[in-house]
Amino acid sequence: MCGIVGYIGSRNPKSVLIEGLKKLEYRGYDSAGMALANQEEIQVIKSVGPVLNLEKKIETIPLLNSHLGIAHTRWATHGEVSEKNAHPHKVEKICLVHNGIIENAEELREQLKKEGISFQSTTDTEVIAALIHYYNEGNVEEAIEKAISRLKGSYALAIMIEGMENLYAVRKDSPLILGIGEKEYFVASDIVAIIQYTNQYILLEDDEIAKVTLHSMEVKKDGIIVEKKILTTDLLKEENNKNGYEHFMLKEMMEEPIVLERTLKPFLEDISILPNLKKYEEIHIVACGSAMYAGMIGKSLLEEKAHIRVVCEYASEYRYKTIQYDRKTLVILISQSGETADTIAAMRKAKENQIDTLAIVNVKTSTIAREADQSLFIEAGSEVAVATTKAYILQVAILALLAYDSAPCNEKEKAEILSEIKTLPTLLKEVLARREEYHRIAKEIYKKEHLFFIGRKIDYAISLEGSLKLKEISYMHSEAYPAGELKHGTISLIEKDTPVIAIVTEEDILEKTISNIEEVKSRGAKVIVVGTQKQCNYDYSITVPKINFFFQPILVVPVLQLLAYEVAKMRGCDIDKPKNLAKSVTVE
Ligand code: F6R
Repeated sequence: MCGIVGYIGSRNPKSVLIEGLKKLEYRGYDSAGMALANQEEIQVIKSVGPVLNLEKKIETIPLLNSHLGIAHTRWATHGEVSEKNAHPHKVEKICLVHNGIIENAEELREQLKKEGISFQSTTDTEVIAALIHYYNEGNVEEAIEKAISRLKGSYALAIMIEGMENLYAVRKDSPLILGIGEKEYFVASDIVAIIQYTNQYILLEDDEIAKVTLHSMEVKKDGIIVEKKILTTDLLKEENNKNGYEHFMLKEMMEEPIVLERTLKPFLEDISILPNLKKYEEIHIVACGSAMYAGMIGKSLLEEKAHIRVVCEYASEYRYKTIQYDRKTLVILISQSGETADTIAAMRKAKENQIDTLAIVNVKTSTIAREADQSLFIEAGSEVAVATTKAYILQVAILALLAYDSAPCNEKEKAEILSEIKTLPTLLKEVLARREEYHRIAKEIYKKEHLFFIGRKIDYAISLEGSLKLKEISYMHSEAYPAGELKHGTISLIEKDTPVIAIVTEEDILEKTISNIEEVKSRGAKVIVVGTQKQCNYDYSITVPKINFFFQPILVVPVLQLLAYEVAKMRGCDIDKPKNLAKSVTVE
């Protein structure tokens, strides 16, 4: 969501911070701010809107001569979007930036007000600064420790104290790393913010307090020094460039064949490295958003082909539901970032109940990757566009592999499927190369207000992702329905030229879906069929290459991703950073 970057060293901190913020902008971006410090004072500058506004503002102000600073991009949680509410927040000598949510902020604010502390903003973040100030009697670390012990919720904090050339960092349930360069240190909520300077970093664990000076770094927990392991990221600097593409989203879709090949490779070499799902009687797949829709495809495949009972739930629901666990249950968590607050909570709930957990995750150092009993990694690399594309495809690929591995096929069938899987990246390239076709269709629909996706069984799960992609980046209202369900109410919304995208890959029930398509066609809908067979009776028919049932969705969803992209482009939307959205949702 929000992004943090901090710097101490001999470079110009302003440039490091602004460049870092730009890299983090994709996470949350309704306002931004930075604070620079030297031995005497702290200067805070904030602005509403994108980082560019902050950058322009900074150009007009004389800046403090400094080696130290913190900066933030905000995605509002407490309080409206305004300069006052943007970070950093400064209360007396304490200046800080914060990612996360403090649930007892109002209660603490009232208590602190009674102690004579006044507040400038309506944020929960200012309460943290006030609390540290309240406890600060000279020993800053102790004050931070006391303050965080009062906080309920999640936080990643980068803190500076006026009059001291130090940087402090602490976190709980919200990621924060310390980057280590040549005689310089960084604090960041995501390695992408600092990858251009260093690939060496330390992962802060919950409630460890880091103190960074110009010459040293020390991490303590409960007052005792903790030896930290220095890690090296394999993220490449160039992964964060558009490489000539107009948008990150387009670049990331075009990367799908290569990252698919990379992800499948180890499993195709030795399928036995997959966990054995057959020993479980029930599987719960839990995730949010697109990851949850990938899970719905997994549910279809595991139920249909491996005959395992599967429950697929939104993590935000699952975490608060009464779940009857059986000892033979496996909980699969799917998350690109590995930091989604609801998915983390769902994982911890399963673990508290002694239920096995398996994560399908992209970021290897993330909380979910570290805490799940077992992880299967997708090799998406860095995904910058807010709307997930390549990571979703890889999540589906891993689920398809698991279903394939658990399915009771004979050796011959298995070998055939395996050799087909090897052709998948090439077939996917073919699908992605047909942009002109999707562009033509987008031109027909981009001015419409509503659009419907329909499909049965796995095609319904595909429809859900198609609909979400379209909504989030083009702001066109769309809904996905099981094809047979539309006539139970929603068909009343179909009128002349209402676009309906029908997904038809479930060939066993092809006639049933075709009947549903006829129902909307006869009410005037403009029908676009996406499937494995050409359908000549409708306005448009997009035919994708046919492959085995397990991997078919991987050749269909990219069509919907590109269609959403073309529509969003025609509607003039900010494709990589859709309004109100953030890449990694680290709050409930
Ligand atoms: C949609 C999208 C979101 C994420 C969801 C889960 O394009 O990106 O719906 O899929 O927020 O995020 P992760 O996978 O990081 O847990």
